[in-house]
Amino acid sequence: MGVVPPHTISETLFSAETLQKRVRELGAQITSDYPDASEPLLLVGVLKGAALFLADLARSIGRPLEFDFVALSSYSGATETSGEVRVIKDLDISITGKHVIIVEDILDTGLTLRFSYLVESLLARHAKSVRICVLLDKPSRRRVDVPVDYCGFQIEDKFVVGYGMDYAEQYRNLPYIGVVKVTG
Ligand code: IMP
Ligand code: MG
Repeated sequence: MGVVPPHTISETLFSAETLQKRVRELGAQITSDYPDASEPLLLVGVLKGAALFLADLARSIGRPLEFDFVALSSYSGATETSGEVRVIKDLDISITGKHVIIVEDILDTGLTLRFSYLVESLLARHAKSVRICVLLDKPSRRRVDVPVDYCGFQIEDKFVVGYGMDYAEQYRNLPYIGVVKVTG
């Protein structure tokens, strides 16, 4: 990214309390969807945006689990049109026979998840099942279909930051989610 224009947070979309409540609900739902504690469950967070969401979600799930992270290259310029997304950091632990839930901060165009072939790659490595959990979903921006199993909130087409999400690497540490407004 080049020069970052002046910007500010113009509105709070979800307070810390609202986020915590919804994440606890998602955790409870996942807990009841995977009732057999002898079947391994693995949360796979997509760096960096999903790190804080995963940290809270994992603590809201009342059954044994493991978690790990992947990093995907973001599309930009030519990459978006060619539909190529690279896996920059792969999983460290085995997934064979495990139920996997991919944990993402936000689903926007869907291109990153679709063209990273993450779901396909996990299934090819013999994951027992693969589901997708996103904190936020911007359905109006979708360009390719991505099946979402768990969703925190659907939002309008606004650029949001906080709770792990960034604008030019800023704002990830906000405990709430706000909307960025470019002022310059
Ligand atoms: P997609 O490939 O367009 O679905 O979006 C992929 C990634 O772009 C998301 O996982 C985020 O990391 C990032 N992203 C999309 N929209 C926003 C936003 O409003 N704020 C911060 N990051 C975003
Ligand atoms: Mg992301």
